[in-house]
Amino acid sequence: MAVIDELQDIETQTLAKVSSAQSLKELDEVRVDVLGRKGSLTNILKSMSSLAPEEKPIIGKRANEVRKTIESALEARHEALEEAELDAQIEAQALDITLPGRHKVVGSQHLISQIEEQMCDIFTSIGYKVYDGPQVETDYYNFTALNTPEDHPARGMADTFYVHDLSGEQSRVKGESDVLLRTQTSGVQVHTMENLKPPIYMVAPGRVYRRDVADPTHLPMFNQLEGLVVDEGITFGDLKGTLEYFCKEIFGADRKVRFRPHFFPFTEPSAEVDVSCGVCHGEGCRFCSHTGWIEVLGAGMVDPKVFEFSGIDPEKYTGFAFGIGIERVAALHYNLPDLRMLVEGDMRFLNQF
Ligand code: DAH
Repeated sequence: MAVIDELQDIETQTLAKVSSAQSLKELDEVRVDVLGRKGSLTNILKSMSSLAPEEKPIIGKRANEVRKTIESALEARHEALEEAELDAQIEAQALDITLPGRHKVVGSQHLISQIEEQMCDIFTSIGYKVYDGPQVETDYYNFTALNTPEDHPARGMADTFYVHDLSGEQSRVKGESDVLLRTQTSGVQVHTMENLKPPIYMVAPGRVYRRDVADPTHLPMFNQLEGLVVDEGITFGDLKGTLEYFCKEIFGADRKVRFRPHFFPFTEPSAEVDVSCGVCHGEGCRFCSHTGWIEVLGAGMVDPKVFEFSGIDPEKYTGFAFGIGIERVAALHYNLPDLRMLVEGDMRFLNQF
């Protein structure tokens, strides 16, 4: 084929390929085929020297024209494809700003934790520190060091969850087993006195476990806030003043508070504290079993025997202790008829707080 026809062919075919190229990559392959180092047009330009002298200017001129035409076609197609690719990318990443937003559900603190925090805040605001104690406890801290006799009913299998004996064997036989789930937070008193020197002003919130069947007023797992004060010259008057202050802060200044004599092995004298019923304001109703009062906590002056177990000199120091049921306080605060509502996880109930 004459070189001039060859050039015509290259031009026609290349322009067709350029306009049908669907991507920048494809377009670049077309360019390399024609204008690359071994491209068809490059080959012709390289072989110009072997042409007859009269052919040279004609073929040379035509070859340059073809090159320019192809180059500008490549450039135009390049721009068009680039734009199309950008459009496609924008389209693929487009946000539909008319879509309604996705609602994020924000969690919140459980009611029990909220109340626990409020209770701790009342005590920290008058100088107490907050401590933590183990939920898996030994018989010694839960009972013995708290002056609880060997034959006390609370130590029985019917009341206490025993975990395993000290050799790690599962055991349900009392006597062989002295690792247990604490039945009260009072053991934290002993840990604290073992580790700190008086003056001690502390509260310790946490879970406790008892072998109770859940009913409106009992849960097999619940929370207590233990309190302990050890200092020189502490009296029952300090205990009364502190707990009256706490009850008014948490339940409101209009609630009445009364102290009833009671017995606990680890305090002497001991008392239970009642608050006037928030539903009937002391008139008597179903909520307070028609007494006008609701029991909220146990308290007393630390028994000197507990001081001895814990390494505190009972000649030098006196102190008081108290234990408050946190679920009880929550129930009183919100007049809840059934403690089980606190642990059932029903969001229709929990979302109200
Ligand atoms: N631990 C007692 C209970 O679970 C409550 C209690 C009573 C705690 C008197 C005390 C206290 O610290 O002094 O019923």
